[in-house]
Amino acid sequence: MGRLDGKVVFVEGALPHESVTAQILKSKTSYDTAKVVSVERDSWMRVAPRCQYFGVCGGCLMQHLASDAQVAVKQRLLEDAFGHLAGIKPEQVLAPIHGPSWGYRYRARLTVRLVPQKGGILVGFHERRSSFVADMMSCEVLPRAVSDLLVPLREMIGRMSSPTRFPQIELAVGDAVIALVLRHLDPLTEPDKTVLRAFAQSHGVQWWLQSKGPDTVCLLDEEGAVPLTYALPAFGISMPFRPTDFTQVNHQINQILVSRALSLLGATEADHVLDLFCGLGNFTLPLARGSQQVLGVEGSQALVDRAHAAASHNGVSNVAFQTSDLFTFTIESYAVLMSALGGRIDRVLIDPPREGALAVCEVLSQLEGQQRPKRIVYVSCNPATLARDAGVLEQQGGYRLKQAGVVNMFPHTGHVESIAVFE
Ligand SMILES: C[S@@+](CC[C@H](N)C(=O)[O-])C[C@H]1O[C@@H](n2cnc3c(N)ncnc32)[C@H](O)[C@@H]1O
Repeated sequence: MGRLDGKVVFVEGALPHESVTAQILKSKTSYDTAKVVSVERDSWMRVAPRCQYFGVCGGCLMQHLASDAQVAVKQRLLEDAFGHLAGIKPEQVLAPIHGPSWGYRYRARLTVRLVPQKGGILVGFHERRSSFVADMMSCEVLPRAVSDLLVPLREMIGRMSSPTRFPQIELAVGDAVIALVLRHLDPLTEPDKTVLRAFAQSHGVQWWLQSKGPDTVCLLDEEGAVPLTYALPAFGISMPFRPTDFTQVNHQINQILVSRALSLLGATEADHVLDLFCGLGNFTLPLARGSQQVLGVEGSQALVDRAHAAASHNGVSNVAFQTSDLFTFTIESYAVLMSALGGRIDRVLIDPPREGALAVCEVLSQLEGQQRPKRIVYVSCNPATLARDAGVLEQQGGYRLKQAGVVNMFPHTGHVESIAVFE
């Protein structure tokens, strides 16, 4: 953000303290938006983007900023959100959780489109601020084995009977196999299946098919299919999942995040723990290893079914799961969960989607005496809703924001993952 004749200008592609020549894109009454044309004096934080499609592809926005500076910017954003939106400050800012900056993205949704002007089929992310598909042959944030599939996938779709009828390929990388989910608008022909099987064999991937909504996702060939799993080795856990299930995008960071969240929560062998927005049980099963009893609550019945299966797959018996809409959480719902946990909830872990956990935090803030959990750990993918909910916990509930910090889950993108501890 800079000023031109006193008016605020948001300049895409510029960094703090730089001198740039920029082109105004939009002029509003109180501010303009612009994009960099050339950099006259650059910042020490500026680096050469590694990816040749940077600036065109909408997948990454911050490759021109050094990795450490990206984390510092995100940390500042988190602290500003707490200050500006809730008027609060963590007692301690946690050291950022770092992981690999490249090849970290284990899930992605790629668009497939026939663009004759670009020479045929494109498979990739959308271009920045556009519905066009980026003409990309590789991607630095996807694991190398997945990036290497981009060109073969283009060629493969070109060999299908009607190449325009496959709008999307979703991918999920497991520990032992890469799963690709092909969205198809028409029933697959036998020759199409032959093309898919040949591709799977030569590239060591597993095809899943999706004819309509997410419920229709199924394996192309079930027999002998390698199970799709990710590991949490510190807890001796292996999580089976389906390629369209919610899983954390960055497996290495996820392992660190789970360990960090659990150590911050500090549950003991005697504790009864509630894991809200538990998904597949990513935190629930590790929590069960070190506490008396854990109850995971999640809105999606399919994920709850998968969480049950994951618990028995790992021989974890001191967990239970419930399906419930946590956006409409009430004191009565809390009482039901508490009785399911044997009349006690000592600690709560919350990991909501971007909308946050307002209803949950309002209920936690109304509890009294023995009902009150002594510690809450909140994992967030949106600093604005985290700050709002933290304000509720502090101002209405009398909880104190002890610690907060960022988790570098999505390097080079604007997404900010963070973790906060309340007592
Ligand atoms: C950020 S994910 C976290 C999942 C899990 N903790 C993990 O680490 O994999 C958020 C979860 O909230 C669930 N969710 C979304 N809206 C919900 C709602 N209204 N009530 C309950 N769960 C919801 C999603 O299905 C998803 O599993």
